[in-house]
Amino acid sequence: MSVKVETLVLFGATGDLAQRMLFPSLYNLHLDGLLAGELTIIGSGRSKRDRSAFQGQVREALAEHLPADRIEEAGVENFLERIDYCAIDAGAGTGYEELAALLGDRLGRPIGVYLSTPPSMFGPIAQGLRAANIACAECRIAMEKPIGHDLASSRDVNAQVGDAFAEDRVFRIDHYLGKETVQNLLALRFANMLFEPLWNAQAIDHVQITVAETVGLEGRVSYYDGVGALKDMVQNHMLQLLAIIAMEPPSSVSSTAVRDEKVKLLRSLRRMTAEDVKAHSVKGQYTSGAVNGGAVAGYADELGDPSNTETFVALKAYIDNWRWKGVPFYLRTGKRMPQRKSEVLIQFKPVPHNIFARVGAGKLNANSMIINLQPEENIRVKVMAKQPGLDREGVKLKEVTMDVSLSHSFAGERRRIAYERLLLDFIEGDQTLFVRRDEVEAQWQWIDSIRDAWGQVDMAPQNYTAGSWGPSSAIALIERDGASWHD
Ligand code: BG6
Repeated sequence: MSVKVETLVLFGATGDLAQRMLFPSLYNLHLDGLLAGELTIIGSGRSKRDRSAFQGQVREALAEHLPADRIEEAGVENFLERIDYCAIDAGAGTGYEELAALLGDRLGRPIGVYLSTPPSMFGPIAQGLRAANIACAECRIAMEKPIGHDLASSRDVNAQVGDAFAEDRVFRIDHYLGKETVQNLLALRFANMLFEPLWNAQAIDHVQITVAETVGLEGRVSYYDGVGALKDMVQNHMLQLLAIIAMEPPSSVSSTAVRDEKVKLLRSLRRMTAEDVKAHSVKGQYTSGAVNGGAVAGYADELGDPSNTETFVALKAYIDNWRWKGVPFYLRTGKRMPQRKSEVLIQFKPVPHNIFARVGAGKLNANSMIINLQPEENIRVKVMAKQPGLDREGVKLKEVTMDVSLSHSFAGERRRIAYERLLLDFIEGDQTLFVRRDEVEAQWQWIDSIRDAWGQVDMAPQNYTAGSWGPSSAIALIERDGASWHD
């Protein structure tokens, strides 16, 4: 394990993510005694404010975003003692000298720089830190998504940041990797013997990955419009889920072993052509409707303008390797869906020969495994069982569910915010749950093939009513293959 950072410098410290997630997560770590005594947190934003005003803002953020039973007055006071503030205008390139002065003796010691800023600032900030001699050999940098908006721009960002920080000091964040349930996929696959022999094209008919949200634009107009679901959700979170579900077993959980396997898998994704996207992709945009019993406006109304941005995407993807030959992976994500759920469905093939066919048992359903990641955490396996009885008119079979509720099995454990794990790993220098440069580039390579093909066929989003599961063509996409979405 590398050395721990002694100072955390948080760019974008007055922004939404910092208030909602980063400070509450840091406070939770502090309260649990997981932050070293000497760790100082320097918040940075463009506006000038003094230390106590900033501490006041953090205090309010904690009260607003944490459950009341986590707020301990003495704990909050001690936590705030760690916090300082320095105004830096990264666009204008000013404030770095003031930061160096504030760092004082800590300059040249391990510093963790966390960028929760617009991505266009990643390169300039890394360069600014280098020019001011703040980016020392022991220093590291963390960046929120998106890294660029296509392969070429992500390479630019990576190169600019790479000039100031070596790759083993760069921590690219995908907050899905901080989720306990996503990490649990690794345990499910590689800490059990049960599944691996069946985890391949011989036994699996297809895989579905759904990440459905009930929220709409949430005031993120300037970011979301023009980006859309493919780049906002598929390029990162969904491809991470896909990679973990489908990769070969890594030899250990070391950051290199796990990320090597993910990169191999991502590179095996079959790129899409214009013909492919016509048959294997659907773009949607929500119109007004009702979600959770309440009326909601359509995307274009929220935006105040017509737009071609997709708020829903469904894809049929193939992985060109031995394990997954011919197995479709159906991916689907959208905003304003009827319910919030992230789930993976593994649909097994039917048994090769039905010995019950002659005794009137009826149809045998093929087995399936449903892994719910959020909001519930559970794993359900559907199996066929015999109905009790004397079977005088033939054996009766029924599908029953083996239900493993993780929320129940680990009921006593506090569910941590994904950022707690990611911030702690960042401070301690463990890159396993962060996205490597070649990984993000492999993700963009596949996404670019879809985006380019969409451009070639001029594909526009189809409307779907808010509160539905997307355009009807998304249903047709899977039903054409004789399967259906698990809703
Ligand atoms: C973010 C996307 O990365 O993930 C958002 O930019 C999306 O559009 C969010 O709402 C979903 O995260 P979670 O943790 O709520 O599933």
